[in-house]
Amino acid sequence: MVMESKDHWEKVYSTKAATEVSWFQEHAGLSLKLIEQAGIPASASIIDVGGGASTLVDDLLAKGYAQLTVLDLSAAALETAKARLGPAADRVRWIEGDILQADLPAGGYDVWHDRAVFHFLTSEADRQAYVRKVMAAVKPGGLVIVATFAEDGPTMCSGLPVMRYSAGELHGEFGEPFELLGHERESHQTPGGQEQKFVYCFCRKVAS
Ligand SMILES: C[S@@+](CC[C@H](N)C(=O)[O-])C[C@H]1O[C@@H](n2cnc3c(N)ncnc32)[C@H](O)[C@@H]1O
Repeated sequence: MVMESKDHWEKVYSTKAATEVSWFQEHAGLSLKLIEQAGIPASASIIDVGGGASTLVDDLLAKGYAQLTVLDLSAAALETAKARLGPAADRVRWIEGDILQADLPAGGYDVWHDRAVFHFLTSEADRQAYVRKVMAAVKPGGLVIVATFAEDGPTMCSGLPVMRYSAGELHGEFGEPFELLGHERESHQTPGGQEQKFVYCFCRKVAS
């Protein structure tokens, strides 16, 4: 199952330019806004989960964030991001792996960011495993930003079935240990000219 998924993503990133995939954003504007709005300091440790070839890491580096990790199943995606960044790539920690299996440092992150990854978890067991990872890896008081297709978004992403959520449903997957600070909707224009409705939830992991 995981190997099939890895093969899928390696193929996507090896056959399409990073600017051609449906989820491409020139800048991850809303994600950047939410991170800055939360007053996250430049010393914060930030992980972009399933970051792929996203330019979020470029913009965070440019804003002075120095403790950045990008995790993705696809080596090809990470290579694309590294090549784009050039020498600045050395300032980022890159992890090739499955978020459900990854061995992340306990309480290692101040910010957990995921755009369009959680929605691929169509089994309850996988969603619970994901939430356990967030619980373990994010510091008490840390910020968790998760963006998925909204309830009126597409039913498929990259040819794979996805879950769609309202803000309340998405927060409900995480539950009480995560205080909902807010949510926003975004209408994403794909490079092919389609509109995709996203919902972003941002939560604070309650200090335990
Ligand atoms: C739709 S893309 C979104 C990429 C990026 N977050 C963005 O907004 O541009 C989904 C990404 O999640 C990665 N991915 C899918 N399943 C994953 C998993 N179980 N663990 C880690 N990465 C995964 C894929 O390789 C892909 O880069």
